[in-house]
Amino acid sequence: MINNPANRPPAKSELEPIETASREELAAVQLERLRWSLNHAYSNIPFYKNHYDSHGVHPSDLKSLEDLAKFPFTVKKDMRDNYPFGLFGVPMEDIVRIHASSGTTGKPTVVGYTRNDIDNWANLMKRSIRAAGGRRSDKIHISYGYGLFTGGLGAHYGAERLGAAVIPMGGGQTEKQVQLIRDFQPDVIMVTPSYLLNIIDEIERQGINPRETSLRIGIFGAEPWTQAMRVEIEERMGIDATDIYGLSEIQGPAVAQECLETKDGPTIWEDYFYPEIINPETGEVLPDGQEGELVFTTLAKEGIPMLRYRTRDLTTLLPGTARTMRRMAKITGRSDDMLIIRGVNVFPTQIEELICKSPQLAPHYFIEVYKDGHMDSVDVLVEPKPGVSKEDQAAAAKQLQHDIKTYIGISTTIKPVDIGDIVRSEGKAKRVIDKRPKGG
Ligand code: DLL
Repeated sequence: MINNPANRPPAKSELEPIETASREELAAVQLERLRWSLNHAYSNIPFYKNHYDSHGVHPSDLKSLEDLAKFPFTVKKDMRDNYPFGLFGVPMEDIVRIHASSGTTGKPTVVGYTRNDIDNWANLMKRSIRAAGGRRSDKIHISYGYGLFTGGLGAHYGAERLGAAVIPMGGGQTEKQVQLIRDFQPDVIMVTPSYLLNIIDEIERQGINPRETSLRIGIFGAEPWTQAMRVEIEERMGIDATDIYGLSEIQGPAVAQECLETKDGPTIWEDYFYPEIINPETGEVLPDGQEGELVFTTLAKEGIPMLRYRTRDLTTLLPGTARTMRRMAKITGRSDDMLIIRGVNVFPTQIEELICKSPQLAPHYFIEVYKDGHMDSVDVLVEPKPGVSKEDQAAAAKQLQHDIKTYIGISTTIKPVDIGDIVRSEGKAKRVIDKRPKGG
């Protein structure tokens, strides 16, 4: 399981007591915090008071964790309608930080943090880095963007809280990233998986074997990435690649983090975030093990509590393994990213999985969807790995077309392009363009 022999998981004595508490102990903490959170939102945020009054529910209706299902959901539109600060639960004088995520349309989603929120976030990020195998003695290179995006600063505060030496590089300037990795010899890198691929290519371009850098651990998230991509990254870099999940509305990164020893999907830090999986059509709560939309309730957030927030991320809740807290399966995609191609539901991750399995194709890809007459058409642009001949690339493209038809069930045109033709990401990758007329 552990790819780099220098890595070891934290000893039990290094974990926080709650990480190894029993399910019963954890549930007791959750219930107490959930009560607090509902009351906090209801008493301090007019939106929640109106929302609950109009649904005929009151925080005092919560007697058990299951009772949460009686309360209505909060959705992205509620954030937009209350833009920018309408959902804040404390006066501005108690807010110490504001972040925003740009989103795909219109106004950004704005979140605010109190001093306690920042403190809890730093602790959860510290917990996450440690779960990935990071230690106090490590140097941590952060290539998530700094600024309004929660990635850079979120990682930064946690790495500092761990006591590691932080290298706050931020996103972009790929040549410089590589220079610093060569010169500063970091142990851990925190970056989106798509930007890491860009960095690996640059390392190779500079004539260095990516397996020979000082890096041992990668903490990758902010976008979906597949198990096949993990294998690709681990083999090329000789590191252990772990998955970190989060979203601005709920906190930013470190809502969940994969443990080094199991790498079986991020462990949800359930003492701070209560997860549910629902059927996205009906809103019904589904049992653990069934796939659906992930919904989170914050248990300690003061600045902007979020109650039953629909993330639109699709996944499954799984029992704990390395910790008692439950895990989430790797995200398949967001419901908004799902493409419907001639009636078949397709996620870009399904195509990624097949591309990464090809020995001839590089893990860079771009999907174009358009109408050809009345028919949906899909082009998948793929690059060869260095040194692969045109003939072998064409054969790999043919194989990929066949695999997509067989495993996903859609017809595609695979378009081999030259190395470097697919635009490289410096943060979250954009992998799809859907040119079909809306609503048609
Ligand atoms: O992306 C926070 C973050 C920063 C997470 C750095 C991890 C590392 P947003 O910009 O608000 O926040 O985007 C949140 O990104 O709802 C998912 O759709 C997606 N996402 C985040 N982490 C993962 C992951 C940050 N590990 C949205 N796997 C979420 C798949 C992810 N998707």
